[in-house]
Amino acid sequence: MAKIKAKLIIQGKEIELPIVQGSMGYPAIDVSSLHSNTIKTFDPGFSSTAECSSSITFVDGGKGELLHRGHPIEQLAEKCEYLDIAYLLFNGELPNSREKTGYIKSIKEHSLPHDQLNNIFRGFRRDAHPMAVMVGVVGSMSAFYFDENMKVNNQNHRKLSAQRLIAKVPTIAAWSYAYSQGRPFVYPKDELSYSENFLNMMFSTPNTKYLQNPVISKAFEKILILHADHEQNASTSTVRLVGSSGANPFACVAAGIASLWGPAHGGANEATLKMLGEIRNEGRINEYIKRAKDKTDSFRLMGFGHRIYKNKDPRAIIMKATCHEVLDELGLRNDPIFKLALKLEKIALEDEYFVKKKLYPNVDFYSGIVMKALGIPNSMFTAVFALARTAGWVAHWNEMILNENSKIGRPRQIYTGKLRRDVPNL
Ligand code: CMC
Repeated sequence: MAKIKAKLIIQGKEIELPIVQGSMGYPAIDVSSLHSNTIKTFDPGFSSTAECSSSITFVDGGKGELLHRGHPIEQLAEKCEYLDIAYLLFNGELPNSREKTGYIKSIKEHSLPHDQLNNIFRGFRRDAHPMAVMVGVVGSMSAFYFDENMKVNNQNHRKLSAQRLIAKVPTIAAWSYAYSQGRPFVYPKDELSYSENFLNMMFSTPNTKYLQNPVISKAFEKILILHADHEQNASTSTVRLVGSSGANPFACVAAGIASLWGPAHGGANEATLKMLGEIRNEGRINEYIKRAKDKTDSFRLMGFGHRIYKNKDPRAIIMKATCHEVLDELGLRNDPIFKLALKLEKIALEDEYFVKKKLYPNVDFYSGIVMKALGIPNSMFTAVFALARTAGWVAHWNEMILNENSKIGRPRQIYTGKLRRDVPNL
């Protein structure tokens, strides 16, 4: 990274700070030496802070561009399968055919969870949210793979853990749903693809077969590809922060799942469908648009806006096309909820408030609609996001440990509490 200097003048003192420039994107001022000058930076929500350097994903929010290891998301979504992307994110290059065969074989071999894990599911209430179950069950995997099997400084162990996670998280996600329905667990099958396997574990039972539909499994594959990674979002930063202490990767990913669950992040697809259900009919759209613009009302139009994209979210463009393919295939064009979503999108995109603030539909606006069309229940939307994002989480966790300059994450604060005072005699 080329280094030129920035000058900070604070209380009459001049401090020179290096400028860090990545291979793409705008530069950053390296403030890491400021603590020795007893100065801190203040940046709630890290809007202006680059916490790390990373070579995995590049997002240009102004242009609406998303690249994984340099490859545009549009090309990846068209030409690749999800496991190609998972391999690319972790290893830096797309697999050749020999590498792909070996990788898929390894993922299939690891897709079966430890039998003891069944008992952990049974400790949950049947009505527990699948994300609550996933946080618990994925976290509990750290009790199965540790010590001799899991040394975070060993690259082979990290690779194995990453593959175990990518392989087992779909099974855990599908079982979280099966458990909530009181249905027996369906095991992964080697003859099915990654996406087909998940759909089969979700929808088949020991006595009924799930009929695979290529349009549906392709649409599901697209959802996974589009959600695989998105650089330093809240859940990925969480995984990196937890991992920075040397914690077990299954515990790190469980923390990522917890972070993703929130409605401002991965929960937005579920929240979008909930909102559409509340709006109910086209006549009420304007009332909700008005509420979204009202500063005294905490309501926001779910599935709209993004911290980084101030232009169209490229993932949303692909998801919208997939959405139309799925609706056509399933004959759902006239379904009231889908018609309502498309009308809401049109009205918001023409509204001055949304235009001025550059608030476009994000990927979760359409992914919720596609998942509903595929028959995936609302409560599973974020679980699907979590299974897709696992590829990104493990790639970032591995990259962080490989980087010899990585340190334990330890942000500072501006203290606003009481001044020092004595404890009274009680
Ligand atoms: N509806 C109404 N107003 C909005 C919305 C919205 N969905 N999103 C942002 N705004 C307004 C916001 O009130 C603010 O107005 P002002 O400047 O007058 O205070 C302005 O736009 C900028 O918003 P912000 O909250 O400062 O932006 P942010 O970067 O902190 O928030 C966001 C980004 C995604 C949390 C937010 O847009 C939001 O809450 N959207 C709805 C939830 C959602 O769809 N989340 C999924 C994000 S995409 C999936 C992912 O990558 O995780």
